[in-house]
Parts: sequence; C-alpha cells; structure tokens
Amino acid sequence: MTDGSPPAWEHRHLLDLERLSAAEIGLLLDTAARLKEATNGCRTKLSALAGRTVVNLFFENSTRTRTSFALAARRLGADVVDFSTSASSLAKGESFIDTARNLEAMGIDAVVVRHASPGTPHLLARHLDVGVINAGDGPHEHPTQGLLDIFSIRERRGSLAGCTVGLVGDIAHSRTARSNLHGLLKLGARVILCGPPTLVSPRWQELGAEVSHDLDAIIPRCDVLNLLRIQFERQNTRPFPSVREYASLYAMTGERLRRARPDLLILAPGPINRGVEMTADVADCPQSVILDQVTNGLAVRMGVLWLTCGARPAATVAGGQG
Ligand code: NCD
Repeated sequence: MTDGSPPAWEHRHLLDLERLSAAEIGLLLDTAARLKEATNGCRTKLSALAGRTVVNLFFENSTRTRTSFALAARRLGADVVDFSTSASSLAKGESFIDTARNLEAMGIDAVVVRHASPGTPHLLARHLDVGVINAGDGPHEHPTQGLLDIFSIRERRGSLAGCTVGLVGDIAHSRTARSNLHGLLKLGARVILCGPPTLVSPRWQELGAEVSHDLDAIIPRCDVLNLLRIQFERQNTRPFPSVREYASLYAMTGERLRRARPDLLILAPGPINRGVEMTADVADCPQSVILDQVTNGLAVRMGVLWLTCGARPAATVAGGQG
C-alpha cells in the first residue's frame, strides 16, 4: 500500500477484528458504503453472488444478526440456508465438525457461525474449505457488530481519527466491546471503557484503552457512547447488587444527556433493555442512531460476504452491475 493503491482483500474468512489491519478494516467499510449506495440504502438487490450458497449456523439466540446476514446474502443474489440446531442431527449425537463437513459437501460457499464457545469459527476455518464468518463467539469477538458500529460513527462523523468513544456496560463479557475496541483503536479513535469495577478490569489499559468507573465524569468528553447490555447469560453471579443500582450509576438518562456534547451519538448493539442501559427518552432521542445501526448492519454484512465470497473487485461495486 506504499504506492497509495487500495489494499487487496486477502482473507477467506472474517474471524475477528484483532488481526485485521487498519487498511483492511477501511476496505471492509468502503465496500459496505458502496454496496449501501448501489442497493439504494440496502433496499434493492444485486446479483453479484448469484449461484452462491451461504449457510447460517447459529447455536445461540439472535434476532438482528441472523436476519441481517440472511437478508444481506439475498440482496447480493445468494441462496441462504438457515440451519436450526434443535431440528438437526446434532440432537442425535453428530459432532459439530461432522455436521459442518456434511453441509460443506452440499457445495456451500460460506458459513456464518454463532456459538457460545470462543474460537468456534476459528476451529471451523481450520476444518472446512469454505469461507467462515464469525457472527459472535461467546464473549470473544463479534466482528460484524464492531464494523457496523464503526461504520455508523464514520457515516455521521466522516472519520474515526481523534473521536472519543465511550463503551459503557459489561466490558468483561461483551464480544461487541472487544471487536469495537480493536477496530476503533486501529482507526485512531480514543476508547474509554466504562462500567462497574467487577465488569471493567484495569488490565484493558494494556491494550490502549482508558478505563473509568464513573459515567458522569466521562460523558462531557465523549463524541460517542455505545451502551452495551449486561450479559447475564454469561455469568453465574451478579456483578452488582441490583439492576436498579446499576441503572442509577450507568444508565444513560435524559438528565445525563443534557450534560453531554450536543452532537453526542448514542449507539447500542441491541437488544436494548429500556431502563437498564438507557431510559426510553434516550433510546428514541434525535442523537440515537440505534436503528441506523441495524440498516448499516446489512451494508456491512453485504460487504463482508462480497469480499469473503470473492464476488468481484470492490472497486467495481459503484458500477452497479445488477
Ligand atoms: C450482541 C450480541 O449478540 O453479542 N447483539 C447483537 O448481535 N445484535 C449484543 C448483545 O447481545 O448484547
């Protein structure tokens, strides 16, 4: 890239953001932006992936991510299979890898996988000869969520450089936090991780983030607040005395919003719990881009499928081949 030419996409898989370069993240974001435009805001279809098959392999609950991947693949003309684990031969004792190999034998091109165990997509990538996309591996990473959050900030702000982003909530168990952290730091943003001491360790500072346990102190410094859900399903003990106490210290409220910069952006990956991460007036306020994030999720997933399934060079997207 020393000659100023755009970076090439050299990966078959999208497993995490930690191991991507800033240029590769930029290429993913630019491809998503072009595809958003070429599909009239993610509404119309292209046929770039016609004849390809994408399998959704979800072992954990999902509303947005699963639907978004399925729609993104269809918007690019691919066929989509939604694999349901409860109705599968896994329930008859078949191993995870055997199931995946059988799907591969049907001539699929990519697997989108969500699993409670960190590293599952990496394991699949070692065993299968198809593209593997991580849709969330336990508390480890959720790269397309990180990308769509960053895409939504960049769309509003133009650039991430010099932007201060507060990630608030359950940093310890949030894959969204990890993917955001890696992506944001690489693109030159400042990241403040904020939440109760039981959920935000000082060790995050070693990666280059600032750590705070005081939301009121960081609010005036932030350009963006990304409000993360407490991942109760990933913990055996409660990390704070009560949800009410958590909300009084860390929920974004209308009153706290008045002490923020007027152009503060409010993000949340969803699902949101009104009254816990934020009050209803904040969820629906003009600074909230929560529903834009959902639309941008389609653009980002189209971009990821486009690059990992090797549709055509990204530079030709703007040409709008149908
Ligand atoms: C996130 C997830 O599943 O990790 N949600 C999502 O993908 N839209 C965040 C969460 O569940 O809190």
